[in-house]
Amino acid sequence: MNVTVFGTGYVGLVQAAVLAEAGNNVACIDIDEGKIARLRQGHIPIYEPGLEPMVKESVANGNLSFSTDAAIGVEHGELIFIAVGTPPDEDGSADLRHVLAVADTIATHMAEKKYIINKSTVPVGTADKVRATVEARLAQRGLGELAFDVISNPEFLKEGSAVADCMRPDRIIIGTAEKASEQKMRQLYAPFNRNHEKILVMDVKSAELTKYAANCMLATKISFMNEMANIADRVGADIEAVRRGIGSDPRVGYQFIYAGIGYGGSCFPKDVKALISSAEQLGLSAEILAAVESRNEQQKHYMAEKIIAHFDGDVQGKVFALWGLAFKPNTDDMREAPSRVLMERLWEKGARIRAFDPEAMEECQRIYGDRDDLELCGTKEAALKGADALIVATEWQQFKALNTKEIKGLLSAPVIFDGRNQYDPGEIAEKGFHYYCVGRPN
Ligand code: UGA
Repeated sequence: MNVTVFGTGYVGLVQAAVLAEAGNNVACIDIDEGKIARLRQGHIPIYEPGLEPMVKESVANGNLSFSTDAAIGVEHGELIFIAVGTPPDEDGSADLRHVLAVADTIATHMAEKKYIINKSTVPVGTADKVRATVEARLAQRGLGELAFDVISNPEFLKEGSAVADCMRPDRIIIGTAEKASEQKMRQLYAPFNRNHEKILVMDVKSAELTKYAANCMLATKISFMNEMANIADRVGADIEAVRRGIGSDPRVGYQFIYAGIGYGGSCFPKDVKALISSAEQLGLSAEILAAVESRNEQQKHYMAEKIIAHFDGDVQGKVFALWGLAFKPNTDDMREAPSRVLMERLWEKGARIRAFDPEAMEECQRIYGDRDDLELCGTKEAALKGADALIVATEWQQFKALNTKEIKGLLSAPVIFDGRNQYDPGEIAEKGFHYYCVGRPN
């Protein structure tokens, strides 16, 4: 099928690559000329396992192209995805400017029926706004009779496993009231709907709300566990034992109940805030979500508090080795990363950071630039040299096995602050370390 994707960010690029690999002819449109030029040269702006070879192969076999020319894009695609950003406004609500600008662009150039598919995470009611925008422009062009549909098709991919998630989705949500749209979408997704039925067709508003409800439910699980961890701390219980204890109940499940130093990334923080804001606009108060958000903000300070307390309130001049900058493993994304709150808090108190991350070093440099209290180290070992303690902020695979002997030799004192509960407290203590983690006795 001929598909156009507006927006070459995380969602748009991955979706385009996966659809092109499945044999569709996909045109990617973005207003960022530099980005399009780089993509044409095979430079992928994000780190995502499997994406680069997939893009290169589809570009080479002619199934995937990149352009800034919206008119060509609109003409090309019978199905047109809107996958542009919805950054939070000042009040936390999703800013729909980009989404509606694309809707207007589509209506400005379309000359035959188009299926407009909303992939961006957008508040309930956005499809109606997209529809109204398209109608207004078509009417202005004297094409009021031209048919189109606006379909909600939210994305559930996770950073770090985006390609795999997109190729093997748990579910494919299609929000539309039109039979023809349903059929087109079923045809498009047929290669991804093997083995068992994954397509769920529903009304547009339910599809839009499903996306927020999914992310907010997951964020709630995490904040709930973080709250339990804080209680475990006080009573001397072990949150990891509690996690196994409750996860074994299939009604709770094992996933997303790991306590830590808070959730980050571009999705959970933004979506929780946006749903709170939507509820407020409706005259409701989203009390559970407000608590989820507030627990997460506090949780990002959890390890900094422990560190500062360990040094009796004075970390001035102390040097910390920091392992992990990305908000989670397998990505270079530092948006809303707990590591940032941690570093900024320690900098405020006069400490210095020697950081290492397998992928996010450039991103860290881009965010913080050159500063005396930050040293980006080439290896995890280099970060340890002479540091007063090791802090683990992201659970990268390569941090999981600790060479305790080497670490002890490199650090000036055997102290580990583990924000992701990666190690066995008993074993670490036996090796002579002072070990702090989240919600476990130390
Ligand atoms: C999330 C959702 O998981 C995806 O389903 C969704 O499609 C995506 O948002 C989106 O809306 O685009 P993502 O933000 O990539 O995906 O990352 P997650 O793997 O969900 O992790 C989010 C954060 O939660 C990370 O900071 C992670 O460290 C934290 N987390 C996760 C915990 O603290 N504990 C857990 O048990 C699980």
